[in-house]
Amino acid sequence: MCSSSLSVAKESFFLLAPLELLRSEDVKNITSIEELEKVKIDEQFIRYCIGEYKPAIITDNLFSFFRFTEKQAYLIIIDKRIDSTSELQRYNFYGLLDTYGKGKIVISSSTLTSEQIKKSINLTNVLINQGQTFILELFQLHTDYDESQDWWMHDVIYEIIVASYQDSNNDGIGDIQGLRQRLDYIQSLGVNTIWLTPIYTSPWKDYGYDISNFCDIDSRFGTLDDFRILIDDVHSRQMRIIIDFVPNHTSNEHPWFQAALHNDPKYIDYYIWHKGKNNGKELPTNWLGASGQRMWTFSSERNMYYLHQFLDCQPDLNFRNENVLDEIEKIFRFWLDLGIDGFRVDAVRHLIENDQYHDEPLSKDAKDMDPNIMYVAYDHTESADQSGSYELVQRWRKFLDKYAYENNRNYIVLITEAYTVDIKKVMRYFGNNREERGSDIPINFLITYYLDKDENEKHGLELDKVLSDWQSNLPEYAWSNWCLGSHDSHRITSRLPSKELIDGFYMLLLLQSGTALIYYGDEIGMCDRPFTLANSDEIVDITAFNYGEKYFDKMIRDRQRTPMQWTSQEANAGFTSSTVKPFLPLSDTWHELNVEQQQNALRSHLKLFQQLVKLRQQAPFYGGYQKKVIATKELYAFIRWLDTNIYLIVININKKGHDPIINDFTKLLKYQNKELFGEVIARSCNILDDSLIGKEGNQINLNNLILQSSEAIVLKLLTCPSNISFCQQ
Ligand code: NOJ
Repeated sequence: MCSSSLSVAKESFFLLAPLELLRSEDVKNITSIEELEKVKIDEQFIRYCIGEYKPAIITDNLFSFFRFTEKQAYLIIIDKRIDSTSELQRYNFYGLLDTYGKGKIVISSSTLTSEQIKKSINLTNVLINQGQTFILELFQLHTDYDESQDWWMHDVIYEIIVASYQDSNNDGIGDIQGLRQRLDYIQSLGVNTIWLTPIYTSPWKDYGYDISNFCDIDSRFGTLDDFRILIDDVHSRQMRIIIDFVPNHTSNEHPWFQAALHNDPKYIDYYIWHKGKNNGKELPTNWLGASGQRMWTFSSERNMYYLHQFLDCQPDLNFRNENVLDEIEKIFRFWLDLGIDGFRVDAVRHLIENDQYHDEPLSKDAKDMDPNIMYVAYDHTESADQSGSYELVQRWRKFLDKYAYENNRNYIVLITEAYTVDIKKVMRYFGNNREERGSDIPINFLITYYLDKDENEKHGLELDKVLSDWQSNLPEYAWSNWCLGSHDSHRITSRLPSKELIDGFYMLLLLQSGTALIYYGDEIGMCDRPFTLANSDEIVDITAFNYGEKYFDKMIRDRQRTPMQWTSQEANAGFTSSTVKPFLPLSDTWHELNVEQQQNALRSHLKLFQQLVKLRQQAPFYGGYQKKVIATKELYAFIRWLDTNIYLIVININKKGHDPIINDFTKLLKYQNKELFGEVIARSCNILDDSLIGKEGNQINLNNLILQSSEAIVLKLLTCPSNISFCQQ
């Protein structure tokens, strides 16, 4: 090995090279793999070899490794494929080496454009062509917030139902122009990415999730031109826009379905048809859909049943048909060409069904659930989370990568909705490994499921179980995400043991590591509005009618979709003019619970939300470490730390009326000295100003931290991580 001069294979050249020489002129001049093989290194060279070596991703096609010292780190990537027709490949190196998150190409085997040289590369998303070799100089995640992680990793994503946000033309329905008028507000939240639920042309039987034209905007919201202007507006603020994408089904009014009904041979196979059992008298299978109906509806035109995982007016597309796959990619392309930054792909668990058409068993947990309407009464072994659905998500990830590469675009994010409590199934949507990536953000609904629990189960230990389940199941190559609710679950404020706990839950959402998703109105703690079957003319979410009186209240989603509450000064809370009836009644709370009131108050949910979003933009909230400190029935506490900073977040989960909880965090954190102090950084609105912890900047002895019911606090510890045994990784 140490002979005075030897010729080395391309891999070992970099392996042996001293770190400082990785940047030397010699290496820079190497323009091809072939040349690397010719390089001779001598003893001298090897002697200077410093720093450590760590393998990164090593497969038949790729050889990659890190070289690093305490101060510097490099990632060396060598694509070994020789077939010149090989496809562009994307790898995820994130999390393999400490908190390094991005890199800059310092040496490459192929000539780079000036753009490529300037641009930093996110380690989650390293694209490499056949035969390419390059060296990335790596950056720690926490050195610069903007440069730290890809936008979708550190942003807060704000979900908006356009119909419910702001009406601009006084027809009682929110629209694109209205949304544009509210961009200042959204930006003031510190939110950088908006996600719009469907705004495509639609008969609106399911809030637009029943699409009749995938490449146009529904006239109730405006025009494609309005939408183009919205995209420009959003981008000019350095913000991003994501739209809902609904590939699983179309509306029954979609021309494809209409053509299929009329036996047009091209379109029949766009959908899924089956003969009934027992000479057509019985449904093909017992499958029950997610909208309270059996999955099969008879078409007298075709004398067959068609499949629909949701309402009978939402026939499922057939993803075993290549033409359908092509159509979907065309639709992706259409919106990407307009400048969309990503997609929230709807209902991915329902994309593919087992084509053996076996019945599904009742679930053991079904208890007294009505199996004729309640989706959770069955184990959906045949119709949900089939391997084909995972493959489709991976295929679309690849498609988006290719599009971004070919069009010199920033990373295009892929969010997926798989609404299931089965965490392993959700995790699989991340993809198989670092090469075969799927979804970037398979939405984490675990807090939502926690809030579904019975009152006596909504305590700290259950919460801990949910949070730890997510963290421990998260693949090491995946990026985390958190959400409190969405358009499909009742408002968080209405489901917490006490409304005031919303502030503590903001802390969980925004201060844990991962992307945060927030549903419009939750930033002011908006509550549900009850609906009754007796007032059926008020109801827009017609799916709820399928559930009958027993489950109506639980299932109706209009409760959480009411218009945004802007002000108490104007009729209809400023959502629409006084002369029209909003398409959905407002929640009665709007007079006292609205944006204006919370902006003017000294302290409010809104103000705390804004404060926490800002805090999250500082290390250690991005790029740092996280650990649970204590979880009991009444309390949940965790720390975030990095370098010299440590933050402690403590939430009292009890609802009003319990005794205060006193904790000695000096002991809990295994602090070496007797006393440990923390400075108050942020606090829930229910912490009184005259209490010890009632002022930002106050320094508190953590021997004796007292929190009243539903209070939550963020403290910065006045010591270093090295003094706290708990912070050792
Ligand atoms: C999931 C969406 O979030 C929900 O609102 C919709 O009803 C179904 N998918 C059907 O598209």
